[in-house]
Amino acid sequence: MLLPRRQLTLALLKPDLCANPNTISKIISRITATNQHNNFEIIRQREILWRQQDAEAFYAEHRGRFFFERLCGYMTSGPFMALVLARQDAIKEWRALIGPTHPWRARINAPNTLRSLYGLTDTRNSFHGSDSDETAKREIEFFFPELDVDAWRRQEEK
Ligand code: TYD
Ligand code: MG
Repeated sequence: MLLPRRQLTLALLKPDLCANPNTISKIISRITATNQHNNFEIIRQREILWRQQDAEAFYAEHRGRFFFERLCGYMTSGPFMALVLARQDAIKEWRALIGPTHPWRARINAPNTLRSLYGLTDTRNSFHGSDSDETAKREIEFFFPELDVDAWRRQEEK
C-alpha cells in the first residue's frame, strides 16, 4: 500500500494557553486524536520563552502593522509551546483546525475551531500555524535548528 506523503508545519500554543497545564493537555489530545481532521503526529515539542528581539525576528513580516507592538508584547508575556506537526496536508489542515485569525470571526463562521474555543482577542488568538511550505521550513528551523527540514522531506519522499 502506498502511504500518503506527510507534510510538516509549525504550530505555536501561545502564552495565554500555557498559563494552564490542563488546557495544554486538552489541546494536545485534540491535535493527536485519530480522526480525519486531527491525527497529527508531534515530531518535536519545546517550551519557549522569548525576549523582545526574538518576537520581532519571528514576526518581522508584520513590522510596521498597527498590531505589531501588541503582538510582540503578548508573545513575550510568558512561556509558550512550539510544536512540529506532521500529517498529510499538515499546513492546510492545521490552519483549518485553528480557524480564522480573529476569534470573534471564528465564533461566528467556524465555531468548533481552536481559536473559536480558546482565542481571547484579535491579537491574543492563542495559536499560530505556518502558511506555506517555505514559511514552515523557516519557522520550524527558527525553533528547532537541529531539525533539517529538507532532509526530512527527502526521507519522506522515499
Ligand atoms: P497573520 O499572519 O495575519 O494571521 P495568522 O496568525 O492567522 O497567520 O497575523 C499574525 C498574528 O498577528 C495573528 O495571529 C495575530 C496578530 N494580528 C493582530 O493582532 N491583529 C490583526 O488584525 C492581524 C491581521 C493579526
Ligand atoms: Mg500568518
